[in-house]
Amino acid sequence: MRAWPGDRLLLGGDYNPEQWPEETLDDDVERMREAGVGFATVGVFAWALLEPDPGRYETAWLDRVLDRLHAADVVVDLATATASPPPWFARLHPEAMPVSREGLRLSHGSRQTWCPSSPAFRERSLALVDVLARRYAGHPALGMWHVGNEFGCHNLMCFCDTSAAHFRGWLQGRYGTPGDLAAGLDRLNEAWGTTFWSQRYTSWDDVVPPRLTTAIPNPTAELDWRRFCSDASLEQHLAERDLLHELSPGVPVTTNFMVGFSFEGLDYHRWAPHQDVVSNDHYLAAHLPDAHVELAMSADVTRGHAGGQPWVLMEHSTSAVNWQPVNTAKPPGQMLRDSLAHVARGADAVGFFQWRASRAGAEKYHSALLPHAGTDTRRWREVVELGRVLAACREVAGSRTVADVALVHDYEAMWTTDAASTPSQLHRYRDELRAWYGAAWRAGLGVQGEHPEADLTGYRVVLVPSLHLVSDAGAASIADAAAAGAQVLVTYFSGTVDPGDHIRLGGYPGAFRDLLGVRVEEFAPLLPGAEVGLRTPAGSAVPQLDRARGSVWSEWLRAAPGTDVVADFADGPTAGDPALTRRRVGDGAAWYCATRLAPAGTDAVVGALAEAAGARPVVPGLPAGVDAVRRRGDDGASWVFVLDHTGAGASVPLTGTDLVTGRNCSPGEPLEVAPGGVAVVREAGS
Ligand code: GLA
Repeated sequence: MRAWPGDRLLLGGDYNPEQWPEETLDDDVERMREAGVGFATVGVFAWALLEPDPGRYETAWLDRVLDRLHAADVVVDLATATASPPPWFARLHPEAMPVSREGLRLSHGSRQTWCPSSPAFRERSLALVDVLARRYAGHPALGMWHVGNEFGCHNLMCFCDTSAAHFRGWLQGRYGTPGDLAAGLDRLNEAWGTTFWSQRYTSWDDVVPPRLTTAIPNPTAELDWRRFCSDASLEQHLAERDLLHELSPGVPVTTNFMVGFSFEGLDYHRWAPHQDVVSNDHYLAAHLPDAHVELAMSADVTRGHAGGQPWVLMEHSTSAVNWQPVNTAKPPGQMLRDSLAHVARGADAVGFFQWRASRAGAEKYHSALLPHAGTDTRRWREVVELGRVLAACREVAGSRTVADVALVHDYEAMWTTDAASTPSQLHRYRDELRAWYGAAWRAGLGVQGEHPEADLTGYRVVLVPSLHLVSDAGAASIADAAAAGAQVLVTYFSGTVDPGDHIRLGGYPGAFRDLLGVRVEEFAPLLPGAEVGLRTPAGSAVPQLDRARGSVWSEWLRAAPGTDVVADFADGPTAGDPALTRRRVGDGAAWYCATRLAPAGTDAVVGALAEAAGARPVVPGLPAGVDAVRRRGDDGASWVFVLDHTGAGASVPLTGTDLVTGRNCSPGEPLEVAPGGVAVVREAGS
C-alpha cells in the first residue's frame, strides 16, 4: 500500500469544480499553486453529474479536472461520490428513502438521503464505484480513495422494514447458533432482559428497531440497535472499499470520521482498523469557552484511532461554518493555530471544507480557502501563509506525537452512559471525558485516546472517565496498566455494566471493584446547581482537594482495607464517605474519584498522578493557555510545537530552530512566540 500523504505536510481540501463554469478551473489551479495546495478531495457530491441518468455515466469533465490537478502537482483524494444519490434514485427507489424513528419517510432534497440497509442503494452505489475505479485506478493524480462522506452524519438510523429485517439478521448473527433460531431468540431474550415490562419475544418477526414507543425503550435493544447502525454503515463502507482494493490495488482508501464535540453515531474503534489511512473532519464548537482544548482532544483521539501513526485532517474551516446557531468568524491567526494544533497531534495533511466558497446552495455562507471576496483579503493571505508554514515544516511528516497519558474512551460506554434510563441526565459522557482531558491539557501532558482493551502498559498515566460499560478484557487491560506501573484513575459510574448492559452485581464499580479497592453501595446523584464540598485527611496525597467542589454525582462508598482515602465528602448526601481513593497496585496505583470535580480539583488530581508517575509536561513552566506538543521521528529527531492560546505571547525555554520563522533559540535567547502565534522548534541535538 502506498503511504499517504508521504514525506511532506499537505495543504488541501474539498474541491468542487462542478459548481463552477469550466473556465474557473484555470484560476483554481493558479491559485492552488500560489497557496501551495498539495491535495484536493474531488467529487464528494458529484454523483448527479457523474450519472445524470440511471446507467449513463459522464466522466469527461472529471478527466479534465484530474489531468489539470496532476499537471499542477496536486494529489487527488478521489471520492467515490456515493454520499448523495441524485433525485432520480428517489424516484426509482422510493423504498430506499430513510424512515425516522417516528415512522416518517424522508424525501430527497438535501443530502445523504438513503437507507444504509437498502439493497438498491448498495447496487447503484457499487455500480458507480466500479465505473470510477476502472477509469481512474491508473490515473497519475490519484493518491487516495475517499469512500462516501462522513458516514452516519445525516442517515445513521433508518427504521424502515428493510432495516428491521437487516437488524434481525444482525441479531441472529450475534445471538444465534446457525440453524437454531429458537436458541438464538432465547439468548436475545436473556440479553435484552425481556422479562421486564412483558417484552419477551416468541417470534423473530416481532423483533423490530426501537421505533417511537410509549416509555423508555429497552436499553439493551437500544444498545444493540446503535451497534447495528454503526455496523450497517460500515458494511456499505467495506463493500466500496473492497471493490476499490480489487480494482485499484495499492491505492489507500479512507473515509472521513467525525471525531468531535457532537457526533456520536459510529463506533470508530470498529471502523478504524478498516482504514488504510485514518482521516477526520473537525469543526470548532463556538459555544465552548475552551474550544481549542476540545480540538486538541479530538486530534489526540483521532491519532489513537490511527494507532499513533500520522493521520489526515480531511476537513476543518478557515473561518465560520454555516450550521451552528451563530457562526463566528476566526480572528486573525486562529486558522494557522488550529491547523498546527492538528499537525502537532499527528495530522500530516491539513484539509478544509472547501476550496472555493460556493455561490449557491445550503453552504454558501460557509468559509473556504478562497473566499467570496477573492484574493485581496486577509483570509486569502492567511491561507497562503499556512501553505508556506506547512512547506517549511515538511521534515515533521511521518513523525509521531509523544504521549505519556492514555485517555481511555469507548463509544458503547458513551451510548449507555447517555441513555434515558441512567441515574442522572446531568451526567454526560463527553463532559466527563472533556473534564479529565482538559486537566491533562492544562498540565501540559501529551495524551492519546485508547480503547479499553488496547495495550495500555506503556503509559505512565491512564485516565478512565466514567467507563460505564466495560468488558472483562477491558477491565483486565486497565488493571494490567496499573500493575505495570501506571497511575490509573477511574471515575464514577465506571464498570457498572457488562457488554450486555446488565448490572455487575455486588456493588459498583463492578468490573473495577478489586482493582480500586472500593465498593459503592448506592449512587447519590446531585440536583442541578447542587454542589458538595471535599476535605482531606492529614497526610492526603492531594492536599489541594481540601475544600474542593464536586457536582453532578456523589456516592455511598466504602474503601477496603489497604485503600487510602485521599479526600472525603465534607457535606452533601454522602458526607463522610470517601470521594477520592488510591490503592497501590504493583509499581503503580489505582485511583477512584466519586464526583465531578470542578477544574481546580481535576487539575490537582492530574498533577498528583503525573508526579507519582514521573510524567513531565512537554515544556515545564509554561503560562496557562500555552500549548506545547512534541513529535518525534524514527531517527530520534524531535520537534516541539508551541501554540499561544492566551493572546499574550510567550517566552519559551527551548533550544533549537523554529521552522516557522527560521530563528534559533537557546537558553540565553528563548523562543519568543507572538501573541496568538505558533512555533515549531526542531530541538537541537535531536
Ligand atoms: C462536513 C461535510 C462537508 C460540509 C462541512 C461543513 O464536514 O463533510 O460536506 O458540509 O461539513 O462544515
